[in-house]
Amino acid sequence: MRKQDFYFGGDYNPEQWDESFWDEDILLMKELGVNLVTLGVFSWSSIEQREGEFDFSWLEVIMEKLHAAGIQIDMATGTASPPAWLAKKHPEMLGVTPEGVSFSHGGRQHFSPSSKAYRDYSLRFLEKLLERVAGHESIVMWHVNNEIGCHNPYDFGLETLEQFQLWLKSKYVTLDRLNEAWYTRFWSQSYGSFDEIPLPGFTSYGTSPNPGMELDFKRFSSDTLLRIYRRERDLIRKFDKETPITTNFMSMRHVTAMNYWEWASEVDLVSTDHYLDFVSSDRDIDLAFQSDLTRALAGGKQWLLMEHSTSAVNWQPVNPIKSTRQIVGDSLEHIFRGSQGAMFFQFRQSRGGSERFHSALVPAAGIDTRVGRALKELSSKIQDLGQLAADETELAKVAIVFDYEDQWVTQQANLPSSKLDYFQEVFNWYKALSQLGVRVDFIDKGESFLEFSNYEYVFAPMMHIVDEDLVQRILKFVESGGHFYATYFSGISDKNLQFSASGMGADFLDPVFGVRLEEFAPMLEQEGKLSNGLGHSLWREIINVDDQQTVVALFEDADELTGSPAIISKTIGSGRCVYVATSLDDNSLVSFLTNELNMSSGHQPVEVTRGKLQFSRDLSGQHKITDVMPRD
Ligand code: GAL
Repeated sequence: MRKQDFYFGGDYNPEQWDESFWDEDILLMKELGVNLVTLGVFSWSSIEQREGEFDFSWLEVIMEKLHAAGIQIDMATGTASPPAWLAKKHPEMLGVTPEGVSFSHGGRQHFSPSSKAYRDYSLRFLEKLLERVAGHESIVMWHVNNEIGCHNPYDFGLETLEQFQLWLKSKYVTLDRLNEAWYTRFWSQSYGSFDEIPLPGFTSYGTSPNPGMELDFKRFSSDTLLRIYRRERDLIRKFDKETPITTNFMSMRHVTAMNYWEWASEVDLVSTDHYLDFVSSDRDIDLAFQSDLTRALAGGKQWLLMEHSTSAVNWQPVNPIKSTRQIVGDSLEHIFRGSQGAMFFQFRQSRGGSERFHSALVPAAGIDTRVGRALKELSSKIQDLGQLAADETELAKVAIVFDYEDQWVTQQANLPSSKLDYFQEVFNWYKALSQLGVRVDFIDKGESFLEFSNYEYVFAPMMHIVDEDLVQRILKFVESGGHFYATYFSGISDKNLQFSASGMGADFLDPVFGVRLEEFAPMLEQEGKLSNGLGHSLWREIINVDDQQTVVALFEDADELTGSPAIISKTIGSGRCVYVATSLDDNSLVSFLTNELNMSSGHQPVEVTRGKLQFSRDLSGQHKITDVMPRD
């Protein structure tokens, strides 16, 4: 494989098959154009079936076969699913639900992320593996664990409790600081010692845990999972100083427990798995969203799509197949949005086990099939695009701020409306911009990855948590000509989920927009109208403005809020900021943005440029690739 080629392949689980299949596997890989396989993800019990008895012979045989065929290896650390003997010997290793029920062996990832037994035995296993295979010529990448946190993001066991208390001690140092941050004089919650602090489990009927504690628990849980990655990575580095190390993120809509902004700088190459919400009519937009989010995590650089499905998955209520057009178009879309190839779960469809109905590169019916033919077409297209591998996807002119902690806030109880959904509101803006043909980048609040100043427009839907530094950066961005948009429920809390002493949102809405917030007025089922004809629902705010602002639209909902400002704008320096105190419905958001960005109305396909080529998909999902630069 040439250095700049894209990867094409997937998870390869030869241990599920008799050795007599392996030569055929290799032939099929060659026929499909596979050049990289992820090996050993779930191999722990096939290597150490009994404690301390390691058998690497089958692994070495298959590695030699791959090597001889010129197929490269993304070598997994094999620690994702501990063997049965470990759960039997150390039952305290098993994860625990908030109700105190222990997980059992038989699924996967059933360990508590805080477990010392899991840590010790997984590292011992990895060390043996490294002694055996590190330095093998075909290993071009290390794959730590697998989808860390997928099935065990939060744990409520004793070891986690101890770890949480230690984490809090190191974060706050003194109890006074912790009590202050969590506002514990409320409901008599003050702590007199760190070991009194519980986990935010089931509190009592009709109550919910302290919001500051709950947010800290999510931060702690993300950190604890990241620690699993770090310790395996550090061990690999003792044996192999240079091969890139990654772990497959799940930068997907339904996975938000891991704060990947904090994880991204720890990997050599950002990689992610992407499975679509097939039920959604916005599937192509959803796919683009997740790809763009992953590219942002990679700081705009290339990343790798480590898993997606060749056709149906098996874990949705109903699992529709992918059309041939989608099999080809989906992978190419990811590549144009920065992926260094297209990897799938898994190479050969399993004959048994709970994923036997999941699609694969080699379906149960073989590759002389619809899926097989589509994959051959795809792999040859990907090969032709090899020249782009050295290029990054062009940055957009528009960015959306995305923040995992803001998502965690809207998952809490006792908010003004349980219908608040951070991810959905962010998606709505992304979708409306996409429908206008506007490409979007994501940025984090800390600007650690991509900076506000790269963009003409920055949108911050429901940016709930803000601090002084962020406010100053937003003001600087607007003063120097940027356009900044925020929506309802933004800037309400500090990092401890407390309001400003001067009022809800006072430290954000006032300095940026000159707005004073009086009250939230969440809506039940009703939909409302604004004075400029736009439709809205879910949420309203009673806000006050003065003569520095332009009122863009008023509420016209035939109640006391009628005539109260719904959308306002303010000019600062050579820029402008806009505040939207409600949730605009889909079509209204498109009309609003058409005006704001001076676009022509109507659906436009989004064009993504990587190197000399541009990719777009029309409404029917048909993709088009065009040259944007003359060939040299
Ligand atoms: C991923 C996982 C794979 C496989 C796949 C099925 O979450 O990493 O091992 O289970 O889903 O869609």
